[in-house]
Amino acid sequence: ALPVILDVDTGVDDALAILFAVAHPDIDVRGISCVAGNASLERVVENTLRILDVAGAPDIPVAAGARRPLIEPARAASHVHGESGLGTLHLPASARAAEPVSSIELMRRLLAESTDPITIVALAPQTNLALLLRQYPNLAPKIERIVFMGGSASVGNATAVAEFNVWHDPEAAAIVLDSGVPTFMYGLDVFNEVAVAEQTAERLLGGDSPVGRAVGSLLTNRIALGSDKSAEYTGLIGDAGAVCALVDPGALRTELRPVRVELTGYGRGQTLVDLRRWPGEDVVHGLMDEWAMVEVALDVDADRYAALFLETLGLS
Ligand code: BDR
Ligand code: CA
Repeated sequence: ALPVILDVDTGVDDALAILFAVAHPDIDVRGISCVAGNASLERVVENTLRILDVAGAPDIPVAAGARRPLIEPARAASHVHGESGLGTLHLPASARAAEPVSSIELMRRLLAESTDPITIVALAPQTNLALLLRQYPNLAPKIERIVFMGGSASVGNATAVAEFNVWHDPEAAAIVLDSGVPTFMYGLDVFNEVAVAEQTAERLLGGDSPVGRAVGSLLTNRIALGSDKSAEYTGLIGDAGAVCALVDPGALRTELRPVRVELTGYGRGQTLVDLRRWPGEDVVHGLMDEWAMVEVALDVDADRYAALFLETLGLS
């Protein structure tokens, strides 16, 4: 199985991603690193421990990392993920605690101990990864690649042009893209497409299995939907799609493209993706020499990922 570290801000759809990753036989989750994002660091850690209890995976180490972005204050997304971070899902407190070391230290240990390089799946603002890469640049070769949910080649969500994870800590994302570690961007262009049918989500919510009920609640999160139950959000598997990319890359159309994170002005946090077919004046004059080359997911067979998600969790 593919060795993986998850970096999360659990987070309604991070919870779906954790359940999926733990359940998939071809993925070996070695540890989970937490960061402030959708909710405060304390909530993220607690939510992650609770979800691992639901997943029946009490042995996966969980550690707390950065409680705020590199430069700006933390700005939780409680209008989407609720005060707890898990929307309308209420889970019992976990009997266990996070590791006594920071998640930067946990990742260092897992990378150093592993004989094979590890894939890092970043489903949150990339503060922890930036700190890791700055503090231990010698460990970069132990990272197979960084698959991140973040950015967009089209519209944003946190702002008209910026996606939440990159917007929350743009400097961190820029450091990660600049690190030389191969990166794979699962951005809003595909993130917004993959949804389970509303009837399926409702069926799970009313069912008997604890995992199914949790998934049903997360998929129908009323806080994000609001009173009008906006069809746009119903059933979105969100971050879980980035984990699907590990085991079924064939459902995605990807292109290796130059990407840059905007750091100033209203565009702060935007990922500029160069989709041109022919080099322009900027290329000719060396103005794009600093841009990172990123494998960008541009299209997805959404039904295939929704089916993979349900099948893996035994909820089809
Ligand atoms: C990202 O931000 C959060 O709302 C989700 O968990 C996802 O990681 C989408 O912009
Ligand atoms: Ca997330």
